[in-house]
Amino acid sequence: MAKEVKTIGVLTSGGDAPGMNAAVRAVVRTALGHGMRVIGIQRGFNGLLNGETYEMNLRSVSEIIHRGGTVLYTARCLEFKTEEGQKKGAEMCQKLGIDAMVVIGGDGSFRGAKALANLGIPCIGIPGTIDNDIACSEYTIGYDTAMNTAVEMVDKLRDTTQSHDRCSVVEVMGRNAGYIALNVGIATGAIATLIPERPYDLERDILDRMQFTQKTGKKHFIVIVAEGAGHAQDLANEIQARTGIDSRATVLGHVQRGGSPTLRDRVTASRMGYQAVILLEKGIFNRVVAVSADKIVDYDINVALSMHKSIDTTLLDVAETISI
Ligand code: ADP
Ligand code: F6P
Repeated sequence: MAKEVKTIGVLTSGGDAPGMNAAVRAVVRTALGHGMRVIGIQRGFNGLLNGETYEMNLRSVSEIIHRGGTVLYTARCLEFKTEEGQKKGAEMCQKLGIDAMVVIGGDGSFRGAKALANLGIPCIGIPGTIDNDIACSEYTIGYDTAMNTAVEMVDKLRDTTQSHDRCSVVEVMGRNAGYIALNVGIATGAIATLIPERPYDLERDILDRMQFTQKTGKKHFIVIVAEGAGHAQDLANEIQARTGIDSRATVLGHVQRGGSPTLRDRVTASRMGYQAVILLEKGIFNRVVAVSADKIVDYDINVALSMHKSIDTTLLDVAETISI
């Protein structure tokens, strides 16, 4: 029989994402409501190793559902990638009386969770990253907010790009994935969207399209490039050199990681946080909570980490057909 979970540890790890707070809030309130204790661990696995922890109560998570960032802070912890660090982490859990952990983060953080699970500390992973690059889940916390922030920024850029008859090349985040770029490209009417999942040809995918559109009377252009596909400044230089069109580069950067989470991120985070605690309460351990067809599901953590998901490249056809 699985051990009874009386005390849950919760941490956020890797890059922060809007909606992580809503997930922490859901974990804390569900656990307390079901008679468990919650220990908040600050700064990811670093905080676990250093004992940066505090007991959380209902009011510890007041006034955070609408706030970006993470009240638990986050960090990357190299030591936790070592066997020694992981052993120390499991020992800290035992010392702190933590029966099980909820880890909110990306794939890397889940590998940390898996290491703890192998050392006897049951874990549940919750996908939190703006990149939407977690294979087992159709959706990750923070993705919607990041895309909406990017769209708002590109809309502002469009005003000045249009006024000057320029080309704006906008680099968006996503690490090695093009989810943010592809959707932002469609939503902002970009003449070209470059994603790492499909190698591009400068001539065919950008210059020819610009030239064709110019002939129909268009004088300003937006190009969206995922950070994993290329660099805005290099592309802007190349486009200006090859077309003579005055071009500017904008790297949206970390602004995409901040801000008040959208409804979708708040609700998904709340559902995932709730489900994580329910699984632990039922003695269902070492799972990653995920979204599939708008339902909250869960996968064995090893299976989750071995899964692959592919981007829907038909969205590129949509973008290329309409943004012309
Ligand atoms: P994300 O969780 O967003 O993918 P990272 O890849 O930076 O972000 O991972 C976050 C943290 O998770 C790392 O700093 C480290 O503490 C832990 N981690 C990453 N990979 C591993 C691993 N293979 N084994 C143990 N812990 C890991
Ligand atoms: O994973 C989220 C993310 O914002 C990626 O989109 C980006 O590549 C990376 O983190 C940036 O990391 P850092 O916070 O270390 O600059």
